[in-house]
Amino acid sequence: MTELSLASGSRLILGIDTSCDDTGVGIVELKPGGGVQVRANRVWSQTVHAQYGGVMPELASREHVERIDGILGEALGEAGVTLRDLDAVAATSGPGLVGALLVGLMYGKGLAQALDVPFFASHHLEGHIYAAASEAELSAPYLALVVSGGHTHLFDVPQAGHYVLMGATRDDAAGEAFDKVARLAGLGYPGGPAISEAATRGDPGAVPFKEPLKGQTGFDFSFSGLKTAALLAHRAGAAPDDLAASFQRAAVQTLVKTTVRAAQAAGRQTVVVSGGVAANRALREAFGATSLRVVFPGQGLNTDNGAMIALAAAAAIEAGRAPSPLGEGAVAYAPLAHGQWPAASPK
Ligand code: KG4
Ligand code: ZN
Repeated sequence: MTELSLASGSRLILGIDTSCDDTGVGIVELKPGGGVQVRANRVWSQTVHAQYGGVMPELASREHVERIDGILGEALGEAGVTLRDLDAVAATSGPGLVGALLVGLMYGKGLAQALDVPFFASHHLEGHIYAAASEAELSAPYLALVVSGGHTHLFDVPQAGHYVLMGATRDDAAGEAFDKVARLAGLGYPGGPAISEAATRGDPGAVPFKEPLKGQTGFDFSFSGLKTAALLAHRAGAAPDDLAASFQRAAVQTLVKTTVRAAQAAGRQTVVVSGGVAANRALREAFGATSLRVVFPGQGLNTDNGAMIALAAAAAIEAGRAPSPLGEGAVAYAPLAHGQWPAASPK
């Protein structure tokens, strides 16, 4: 593979994410001083799965194959560039659905080879974290809370690229809980935006929810108890809007409270909050009311997208990381953390 040109001037990085049910292609400009700008962010969100109530892996792969050319064309158009202008290509190699990942990974590798530019395999969760680099420079140390449909992970980041797992969900992911509660309350799919919207009309004090893992000294999360309580309240006749508002308040409280405790324990002042649930307005407001410096991804960068993968690659390039070998495969399970709090955390 060719070396990345060290000539002065900006470099354009293409990022691809096909880890689940969104076909995402983004283009990021890496400026000479290390600053980044998202030049394009195009996402095709697959709707074919709605009728099944969950993502069908084989259908997701097929749809990525059908859509990726078109989404790439849209991204190039949005950025006002051609393929020949690209200086590097990045794609998610994991974690995710292997068949779905393979589409974007092989596409990215092929593109990099055809254009004779370096290829970078990115970690999906690192992509979510670096989505926030669109808004502010991410300089370690900081804490990172990734809250999406598939993940609820709290990392301490003592130095760039080093992740220490402080806590994670013991059952459902935060976004998954939003989706399930929305479904049982008949509010539609995806559940996050539906709950958020219904909550504006409901009373957050109408349904009392118990705080999950109350009294724990660690930093884990649990959402299955809230989900069961929501189901019981629904059966007892709670109005959907009240249920949405009450559930949202309980979910937001546990996320914020645990993260604030973790930040105190690790001695961090900055927290990156990313992933689909980071789009939630109530969550943003609650974090805004803490004394922490909280950085969220910019508009359109919370849920899965390709620009975040290009942003993670931009950070890797800035850090002088070598391009990935073209033999790099797709992996369903790929832990990001190098260790578990507190043992592996440098003081
Ligand atoms: O990051 P993402 O696109 O996918 C994964 O990597 O899993 O996150 C999707 C999740 C869904 O569960 C969706 O309901 C949730 O993010 N979500 C929200 C909001 N927008 C999306 N949850 C709460 N409030 C929102 N406004
Ligand atoms: Zn994701």
